[in-house]
Amino acid sequence: MSGSPFSSARRYAIVFGAAVLAVAIAAPAVATPALADDAVPEKIKDKVQVCNSCHGAKGAPMSATTPVIWGQQQNYLVKQIHDYRAKDRNNPIMSAIAGGVTQEDTRPLAAYFAAQPWPATPGANPSAPPPDSIAAKLGQCQACHQKNFEGGAPAPRLAGLSYQYLAASMKAFADGTRTNNLDMPKIMQALTETERDAMAKYLAGL
Ligand code: HEC
Ligand code: HEC
Repeated sequence: MSGSPFSSARRYAIVFGAAVLAVAIAAPAVATPALADDAVPEKIKDKVQVCNSCHGAKGAPMSATTPVIWGQQQNYLVKQIHDYRAKDRNNPIMSAIAGGVTQEDTRPLAAYFAAQPWPATPGANPSAPPPDSIAAKLGQCQACHQKNFEGGAPAPRLAGLSYQYLAASMKAFADGTRTNNLDMPKIMQALTETERDAMAKYLAGL
């Protein structure tokens, strides 16, 4: 054991204090959407507006092929913006946009979006059991994508992404067009298209 009880208590107080402060800052923005813009750090305000034009001003994307980034895992957002910029993940729209985001602005942007609430999807049922045909294989995804598919340090949130986006990204890993991860292509190739489709439908409904 290292560190005195004092230092861990103090660290707790600092973390707790920061959490209270974060809630205090976030609360009015949620209660009065007109003020929401004030919560965006000045330095990235213009960029956030650009992102919102497709990813949605309240986090619900304008099209089903555009993923939710509000409430997505911060590490994952940093990596994707970097990968689009480096063309390790190539997409004509996002690679062009990420090309205009400096490395310096990448973390603040990711932190801002990760801190926003995931948008509520009408009709979503987060506790729905998976269909029997894919239940066992879906269990293996949870090792990385976590229990409720809400993501965590090892992998992004999948729950509540659109069916269209999930199906397309799973296919892109399977057919080798998305190569910015070593595990996912193999995992997706081991599934049939029918299984991937059923998984995309199930995850979209959570
Ligand atoms: C013109 C529309 C448009 C704009 C503007 C836009 N995006 Fe995107 N974004 C997309 C689309 C479409 C995709 C999916 C691309 C793909 O399939 O790889 C995407 C994907 C992403 C992803 C990957 C999410 C995931 O789940 O893998 C991130 C992160 C992202 N965008 C961040 C941003 C940020 C930050 C900005 C602002 C600087 C931004 N986007 C602006 C359309 C847009
Ligand atoms: C070994 C850990 C691991 C396992 C197991 C795993 N994944 Fe992933 N998955 C990842 C990581 C890491 C990423 C992000 C890759 C990147 O950097 O773009 C990812 C990305 C994804 C994406 C893209 C999300 C997005 O927003 O674009 C989908 C969809 C996905 N995984 C589905 C699944 C499904 C379904 C399973 C189970 C059949 C599964 N994964 C199993 C680690 C894993």
